[in-house]
Amino acid sequence: MRVLVTGGAGFIGANFVQQTVRERPDAEVTVLDALTYAGDRGSLASVAERVTLVEGSITDVALVDRLVGESDVVVHFAAESHNDNSLDDPSPFVQTNLVGTFTLLEAVRKHGTRFHHISTDEVYGDLELDDPAKFTPETPYNPSSPYSSTKAGSDLLVRAWVRSFGVAATISNCSNNYGPYQHVEKFIPRQITNLIDGLRPRLYGAGLNVRDWIHVEDHNAAVWTIIDKGRIGETYLIGADGERNNLEVVRTLLELFGREPDDFDHVADRPGHDLRYAIDATRLRDELGWAPRYTEFKDGLAATIDWYRANEAWWRPAKAATEAKYARTGQ
Ligand code: NAD
Ligand code: TYD
Repeated sequence: MRVLVTGGAGFIGANFVQQTVRERPDAEVTVLDALTYAGDRGSLASVAERVTLVEGSITDVALVDRLVGESDVVVHFAAESHNDNSLDDPSPFVQTNLVGTFTLLEAVRKHGTRFHHISTDEVYGDLELDDPAKFTPETPYNPSSPYSSTKAGSDLLVRAWVRSFGVAATISNCSNNYGPYQHVEKFIPRQITNLIDGLRPRLYGAGLNVRDWIHVEDHNAAVWTIIDKGRIGETYLIGADGERNNLEVVRTLLELFGREPDDFDHVADRPGHDLRYAIDATRLRDELGWAPRYTEFKDGLAATIDWYRANEAWWRPAKAATEAKYARTGQ
């Protein structure tokens, strides 16, 4: 099977490529990645001999047309992915997440190629802290930020291309991922690398916002399950019942580093900060038989800390610039 992975040099995409090479010896993997600040060739170094990395944008019509024409399935991870950046400058979010997805859809329509679109639970907006409800595939879209609204728009493009043009696509909306190769701008790697450097974690606002954490390996296993067994045109929610507020996450990290429980700073809150995300993954579990393997969050975090300790050369180059950017917003 010839697999085109967009955004395969980013966090989840690189883990997906590594998992695919490990578990699917017959897969021929091509990565299309623009190698933005978030993409790193080094994330694919361990599989370089099995993977063709094409440096280019998903908005490049001719390049996308050629690569899609040479593929059996397209797995679309490429995106601008960070909410805080989208508040600073939404423009690349519109270009990559909307125009890029449109460009890919036109190519898969032309070539009749199977398409899997990776999206986020943030398209549903947020839930109240005391609400027992979780997101389901029926929850109305209600995105809050430029990031989540462009992801929501990209999902709607995929749905329309399925219905109007018969494109063979599936969509997955996953909750917050953690694991190796995640950029130091994101919550968990930022705090881990601060702690490695002897600095204090930085908690937005009161730290009561809830995220539904899933290990990146579980997300990617679910993606393959959907590609193998999912119904065309269907949306699958991916989550592992991992709800925790940010304060709890920081306290767990502090404990794993042997630091005091209050050894962190409250910093400026994010404007429009979504309160809570929570996924009901019943369809994926019951219809497709997927289940997460990383069920102990603390163990998954400890393994992630070990990875950042052992791979300082991977994250160190981005750390100072990332912190300088946060300093400008007092975060
Ligand atoms: P990331 O920012 O780590 O990686 C994104 C990758 O896309 C990078 O390698 C970057 O170079 C590449 N890219 C950006 N613009 C491009 C363009 N125009 N053309 C080609 N490549 C381009 O993001 P991530 O956290 O790995 O997220 C991957 C996907 O998963 C995204 O679609 C995101 O919305 C979705 N998602 C992420 C999470 C999460 O917790 N990180 C949760 C649910 C869904
Ligand atoms: P993030 O990793 O940016 O993911 P998302 O915004 O997609 O959920 O942030 C996760 C949560 O952590 C979110 O509630 C914002 C919060 N946060 C902090 O408290 N401190 C930080 O330094 C960062 C980057 C995020």
